[in-house]
Amino acid sequence: MQELTPELMFDFLYNLPEQFEECLQMEFPWVTSLRGNYRNILVTGLGGSAIGGDILRSYSLRRLRVPLVVNRDYVLPAFVGPDSLVFAVSYSGNTEETISAYAEARSRGARVIVVTTGGKLGEMTAQDGYPVVKVPAGLVPRAASGYLFAPTALILEGMGLLPGVRAELEEPVAVLRSRRRNLEPAKPAPENEARAIAAVLKDSIPVIWGSSSTTEIAAMRWKGQINENAKSPAYFNVFPELNHNEIVGFEVPEDVLRRTAVVVLRDGNDHERVKKRIEITREIISSRVKSVTEVHSWGNSFLARLYSLIYVGDYASVYLAMEYGVNPTPVKIIDYLKAKMAE
Ligand code: PA5
Repeated sequence: MQELTPELMFDFLYNLPEQFEECLQMEFPWVTSLRGNYRNILVTGLGGSAIGGDILRSYSLRRLRVPLVVNRDYVLPAFVGPDSLVFAVSYSGNTEETISAYAEARSRGARVIVVTTGGKLGEMTAQDGYPVVKVPAGLVPRAASGYLFAPTALILEGMGLLPGVRAELEEPVAVLRSRRRNLEPAKPAPENEARAIAAVLKDSIPVIWGSSSTTEIAAMRWKGQINENAKSPAYFNVFPELNHNEIVGFEVPEDVLRRTAVVVLRDGNDHERVKKRIEITREIISSRVKSVTEVHSWGNSFLARLYSLIYVGDYASVYLAMEYGVNPTPVKIIDYLKAKMAE
């Protein structure tokens, strides 16, 4: 691997739209043979490999006729059986929880599709004869979100379960290409929204709020990217749920609240009542926290809007890493944990 610098992560981010384009060229010759009457769909994976499952869940929520669940565990829910379709997703192919869940799906007789660069999971799948989507190696999992999400949606489309995916994947390519012009390192703040947000988040506890069924997964992604790239704590929650608990926790301790930077992710398709909730919530907290920053989605389709928010967060997390003088790419703590678990 090349030297791990912020430039490398910026390169990965810059090329996200091209990941979607490559996925649109992928062929899944086995897909029609997998058509069937599934009672449920499950995506099993962890971290950067699981978030693609969340994007799929959120995207398909109002289109799929069967439930789609994301599993982040060694074990599978009891409902998984011969009528289930299971995507086992692991960028490295070596994540022990995903390997365990894969083995369980196999023993329960589920239809399994694997998305990976190889590793042990790749070897097991080759032996078991399940279909594999082999994605390009050389990235880090969280930088491969296009490769890890788009094939799962395209496969569901090919199986006749999720219409319109191919057409909808065109728009994020255009929106992200237009977005990246103002997010790249050459662009200074304030035109560079991500850079400006990183300056606000510095020396604070970032709290990212999205809304159920529109921006939830973008908020989750912002949190994970700030953790992994900037090596900083970050938390996320969603409207309307946060109005029923988290909002009460903005009274004390005052010194912590003064260092809390709230980011609200907004989307034109947020529920009208949620829009009102966001305004009222801003009024309640704005004098108590360090800052409240709003980030608005771009584009028309669900995927373009969601990814436009994800993209700003991805870049902001790398600028925050630079503010802290840390390298965004390696995740030494995760590597250490995996190594200790392997002992
Ligand atoms: O971003 C990361 O590196 C992690 O969140 C990994 O995605 C996670 O540890 C799982 O590894 P993998 O994606 O290789 O299955």
